[in-house]
Parts: sequence; structure tokens; C-alpha cells
Amino acid sequence: MVLVSLVLQHAKPYKAWIAAVFVLQLISTIAALYLPSLNAQIIDKGISMGDSGFIWSTGMVMLVVCLVQVVTAIGGIYFGARTAMAIGRDLRREVYRKVDSLSALELGRFGTATLITRGTNDVQQVQMLVLMTLNFMVSTPIMCIGGIVMALREDAGLSWLVWVSVPLLFVIVGFLVYLLMPLFRLMQDRIDGINSVLREQIVGIRVVRAFVREPFESERYRTANENLTRVSVRVGNIFVLMFPVIMMVLHLATAAVLWFGGHRVDTGEMQIGSLTAFLQYLLQILMAVMMGVFMVMMIPRAVVCAERIQDVLSTESSQLIPDASVATPAVGLVEFRNVTFGYPGAERPVLDNVSFTAEPGKTTAIVGSTGAGKTSLINLIPRLYDPQQGEVLIDGVPVSSLTRAQVSSVVGLVSQKPYLFSGTIASNLRFGRASATDDDLWEALRVAQGEDFVRNKAKGLDDPISQGGTNVSGGQRQRLCIARALVAKPRVYLFDDSFSALDVSTDARLREALGEVTGDATVIIVAQRVSSITDADQILVVDDGVIVGRGTHEELVERNETYRQIVESQLSVQEVA
Ligand code: UTP
Ligand code: MG
Repeated sequence: MVLVSLVLQHAKPYKAWIAAVFVLQLISTIAALYLPSLNAQIIDKGISMGDSGFIWSTGMVMLVVCLVQVVTAIGGIYFGARTAMAIGRDLRREVYRKVDSLSALELGRFGTATLITRGTNDVQQVQMLVLMTLNFMVSTPIMCIGGIVMALREDAGLSWLVWVSVPLLFVIVGFLVYLLMPLFRLMQDRIDGINSVLREQIVGIRVVRAFVREPFESERYRTANENLTRVSVRVGNIFVLMFPVIMMVLHLATAAVLWFGGHRVDTGEMQIGSLTAFLQYLLQILMAVMMGVFMVMMIPRAVVCAERIQDVLSTESSQLIPDASVATPAVGLVEFRNVTFGYPGAERPVLDNVSFTAEPGKTTAIVGSTGAGKTSLINLIPRLYDPQQGEVLIDGVPVSSLTRAQVSSVVGLVSQKPYLFSGTIASNLRFGRASATDDDLWEALRVAQGEDFVRNKAKGLDDPISQGGTNVSGGQRQRLCIARALVAKPRVYLFDDSFSALDVSTDARLREALGEVTGDATVIIVAQRVSSITDADQILVVDDGVIVGRGTHEELVERNETYRQIVESQLSVQEVA
């Protein structure tokens, strides 16, 4: 049902093409049905009576009918293919747009791998079925019924052959399909399995090597691969059986027609021409039955795929995106008002009643142990997630009432896991502002302390970056991401542990340069090293999702136990070193 409604809904724009397919196939099928009977006439009236004039004229008619049949068949397939491909394209586009609109919450629930499969392979399965349906929907039933009628018209005495061979073929092919169907479903699962193992291994290849996990991982892959192979071999075995069996039925039917028909020709009950026509009709019917069964065979797989696609399409983003209504914040005052936030499925919220204000022109630092909730807190500002309670505001406007474009123009996030896209250094830096000049890019790189290494690249700004930025070092990636945020010149800068890969002196130089360019913008820094935030205007100490202290470095050292512990642990490390 999902399959039908999904396809019908997406077929609407292509009504005209589908109508063309109908008409063309109708003509083509009728022409195909007419040919054997013309042939019979040539044999019975033309050849046996030696009437060459009749042979010529009927022959010409046959030629024309044949041409019409070929042209309409080609036309039908052409429009059918166009329609199926167009529906596939629309579905893919819709899945893509939907995925694009979902928030981190829903994306996390689905998982990357399955979203990719749904947007590609699953759509393709549905598209295949649409193609098959359009190609055979009209021709198969007409061919079956028309063929039977025409065959009976040629000779009713042989009709029992139709009633025997058609059900026989139907039962045999049907039985094989019945065996195949669960295997197909299993195969889809196994393909999913192999995809997910392979994906994980390629993405994590460095870790796998570092921990010498290759034997374990290759064993995992071997198992997945063999599982798929086993199913494929079983499918193959059935197919191997299928074609000889079908051929056997066809040949038996042919032999039977010739045998019984031959006797009837002998006794004068039937003419030779009728015999050949009857044979051709019977073969046409059997072929149509076979095609019909094949089509039916594709349905279950497509149904599963359609359900998986519909699953994505019917997911509503938990975040309502407003259509531009309020003015874009121009100052960048960030305020958290009693914010409580938890990840779905978690028992406890990761942030509990958090309130603070980060002012423009000032630097707010966030410190706390791992897992304290710093990243979660930062991610609420560009609205990667929505809090369950409370509000996040910029210039007094809740971020939930800003459009995505507005949010991204106001907030520049350098996330903890820096990510670059395939392309060049320049194309990555221009993410934030497409109109940035090369000078802007160099300036951003200078501030981000990335100028030297980019200058050393063979092609400078045009040096290639691979997907995820795996062809530059961790520290370089981090600096490029900082530069990317700087190019956009947002009102609010968020640095989530962005200086961790820098040595202490580079860190200091970066912060100094940053101070110049951020000017009157709001800066929020999550830091591991206390030394890099001692001069912040305000430091928030986060512990287990709660702000347990706020103030300047001096104030906190004096009166905050948690902060003192963090400072002491780091000082002692430095002293030892
Ligand atoms: P955070 O990622 O906010 O911690 O996760 P953090 O303070 O930034 O930690 P570091 O310093 O970068 O290491 C806070 C809690 O939220 C949970 C984690 O289990 C963690 O305890 N969490 C995080 C989730 O449940 N789901 C997520 O997607 C991320
Ligand atoms: Mg973090």
C-alpha cells in the first residue's frame, strides 16, 4: 500500500507520459497479436493456392503492421523509461531535502549508513519496479487474453493445450518465485550488513591499523561477505533451474501443438497456416505469463524499499524552522535562560537549569571535566538541538525563531570535531562567505596561525582537501576550521576546544590575533587548558551539566573548589614536565 501510494503520488506530474505509454503499448500489442493471423492467411490462402498477388499484398500489410509494432514498442519503452527515471529522480531529491531538513536528533535516530542506502539503492528498486510495471502493465494482460481469443479463433480443437500449458507454466514459475522471494529479502539485509561493516572499517581504518585489529576486522568482513554469498548462491541455484524449466514447458507445448495439430491437419480439420498461428499465439501467451510473474516477483522487494523511503519522508523535523520573520540579530548578545537539555533516550539531562549571559566584545570561557556537557551547551547556540526547557536567546530573540540562514550568519561554530569538505582550501574557507576575496582568506589564515603551512602547499589556497579533511594534520584541520569561521565574520564566535592541537606559544599568538579581529563580537571558548583562558572576561565552570562557578580566573581560584582542582591538576602536570 505504501508502495502504491508513494508511486501514484509521484507519478502525478507525468500523467501525459504515462498516457502515452498506455496508448503506444496498446497499439503495439494489438499489432503483435495481428501478425500471426496474417501469416496464417498467407500460408493458407496464398501459398497453398499459389496466389502470389495475395502473398504480396498481405505481405505488405504484414510489413506495415510490423513497422507500427516496432515503432510503438520503442516509443512505449522510451516514455516508460523516462517516467520511471523521473519518478526516481524526484524521490531521491525528496529524500535528500528531507534529510537536509531533519535536525541532529532525527538524523541520529536513523544513522548515516541507512539514510544513504535509502536515498540511493532503495529508490532504485522502486524505480525498477515502476519501469517494469509501465513496460508490461498494458501488454501482459492484453497479450494473454488477446492471445487466447486469437488462438481459439484459429482452432478451437486445440484449445485444451492452452488450458494445460498456461497453468502449468504459471504454477512452475510461481513456485520458483515463491522460493525466491524470502531469499531476495534476505539478500537486501545481507547487502545492508556488508555495507555497514565495510563503511565502519574504511572510516576507522587508521584506528584499526593502530590497534592491529585487522585480523578481527577481516574476520568480521569475511563473515558478512560469506553470508551474502550463501544467499546469492541459493538465488543462483533457483535461477539455474528456472530457465531450463521454462524452456522445457515452452518446447513441450510446441511439440504438443505440432503433434496434435499435425493429426488435425492430416484429417483436414485444420489448415497449416492456422497451426503456425496457433503455435505463435501459444508462445506469446506463455511469454506474457512469464513476464507477468517476473514483475510480481519484484514487488516484495520494492515494497520493503518503499516503506523504508516513506519512513524517511514522513519523519517530521522536531525543529520548526520559521520563515523569516524577525530581524537578524546585529549585536550578538547570547543568553541562556534556565536551559535544561537531555539527549533522547537518556535518563538524565546533560544540562540542568543553565543560565548565563555572554556579552559582545567580551570573551566567555567554559571549563569542566570531560563529559561535563560543554559541547552540548555550545551546540544549543547554533540550534543543532533544542532544549527541553528554557530558552537560548541572541539579542533577546530566541534562536528557535530565527531561520537557519539567519542563525548561520550570526553564529560561527568551530566544532570539537573539525570537518572539512572535499574541494580546495579556498572552497572550504569560502563556506561561510562565498564572496570573500583571496586577501580575506589569507587574513583569516594569518589570524588562525595557518598561513605558513598553506603558503608551503604547492598550490597554496587551491591545494586539494579530501573528504573530511583527512589529508591535512589534525592541528592544520583545526586551524582551517578556525579560519573558516573567521572568514564569515559572525557576531558570535564559538570555539569548542579548538586550540587543543596547538602548542602553548601558537595558542597564545592565536588568541592575541583573535582578540584583534573579533573586536566587539561575542566570543565563547571551551578550553581544556586553563592557561589559555586565564584572561577571559568571564569563566563558567561546568560540572555534570550544572554551572558550579562563574567569575574571572582570580576570583575562581580564590573561591571555587572545582576550578581550583582543575587548575592544580594542570599546574602539577606542567611543574612535573
Ligand atoms: P559533551 O560532549 O557535552 O561533553 O557530553 P563535553 O563536556 O564536551 O566533554 P569533552 O570535554 O568534549 O570530552 C556530555 C554528555 O552528553 C552525553 C555524553 O554521554 C556525555 O556524558 N552525550 C553526548 C550523549 O548522550 N549524546 C551525544 O550525542 C553527545
Ligand atoms: Mg566537548
